[in-house]
Amino acid sequence: MKTIIEDMTTGIQAAGIARAGEILRNGGLVAFPTETVYGLGANALDEKAAAKIYAAKGRPSDNPLIVHIAETEALEEIVVQVPEAARQLARAFWPGPLTMIFRKNDRVPYGTTGGLDTVAVRMPDHEIAREMIRAGGGYIAAPSANTSGRPSPTTAAHVADDLWGRIDMIIDGGSVGIGLESTIVDLSGETPVILRPGYINQEMLQSVIGTVEMDKGLIAADSSVRPKAPGMKYKHYAPKAELVIIEGKASTVVDKINKLIAEGEKKGEMIGVIGTDETRDAYRGGIVKSIGSIHEELTISQHLYGILREFDELAVTKIYSEAFDTPKMGQAIMNRLIKAAGHQIWKV
Ligand code: TXA
Ligand code: MG
Repeated sequence: MKTIIEDMTTGIQAAGIARAGEILRNGGLVAFPTETVYGLGANALDEKAAAKIYAAKGRPSDNPLIVHIAETEALEEIVVQVPEAARQLARAFWPGPLTMIFRKNDRVPYGTTGGLDTVAVRMPDHEIAREMIRAGGGYIAAPSANTSGRPSPTTAAHVADDLWGRIDMIIDGGSVGIGLESTIVDLSGETPVILRPGYINQEMLQSVIGTVEMDKGLIAADSSVRPKAPGMKYKHYAPKAELVIIEGKASTVVDKINKLIAEGEKKGEMIGVIGTDETRDAYRGGIVKSIGSIHEELTISQHLYGILREFDELAVTKIYSEAFDTPKMGQAIMNRLIKAAGHQIWKV
């Protein structure tokens, strides 16, 4: 298949949006930027179109897709009921990096929801995304636009690396703003539950609707409790090199990693390090990459997946990463990093 690139890095282009809309209405696949990560879009109400997403990504068919909308009113058309808490959250955080789970109605095919009676819905805070959704018919199913098992793409180049020749179009809107996937909240039960942490954290949700719980599968110290979002249970992206997180006081962490670099290099290993602007110069040897300043959590979240992809291109055998327990997004950042490390955290 021939993949077309639409360059919208300098601004939205009406003709390109119209072409994307036509592809989507004809059952094709278009990758597009959102404020979180790039998505791979198809018409959510067309089971055959949704099936193409699974084929292009190599995604297990029981892993449901998020339906993206451009207007709050569109929600009523695809769910059985909109609970009051969802209305309040939509008013507070839509358009934005929040996905909510509802009981679906008959318009949403099971091919989109992985056979579930619930549907995940989100309205992205990105002009290109919303215009494309409108042009494509208003309901666009979109997982992250990576090959299943790789980190979510935060640039159009990441999408091209994974899906070139497998999809009809990539809209290049430049680097994304957040870099981690949306927060998912399940509102289909009695108490709202966070199934995936993201930019919108527990505190922000509770300030609008009161008690919100964390899915126990997310906070378990190991992978013994199964998370509720089907996608969170799959073996997640792990870099080619073994990744270990070293957690503790900054100076102790640096000392420990320096010791590990020295030991590794003596054995002829090539060591990668994920540090910050504040610590990068304190490392002796290894290939050191800064994820950004420890005081700018959005920079850290933006860079995480890109750095993991960069290390895959290098011949490092081990990667040591600092922990990034930042105040607002720490939970989301560490959730993804811990998975990439296969739960290997050493406290020092
Ligand atoms: O930020 C995002 O949410 C990005 C952008 C493109 O919008 N999308 C994204 O989609 O991250 P994906 O498919 O990579 O992740 C969707 C997650 C999966 O873990 C999936 O299992 C879960 O949402 N999910 C979808 N529908 C669900 C449902 N009905 N019940 C429980 N979990 C659901
Ligand atoms: Mg994904």
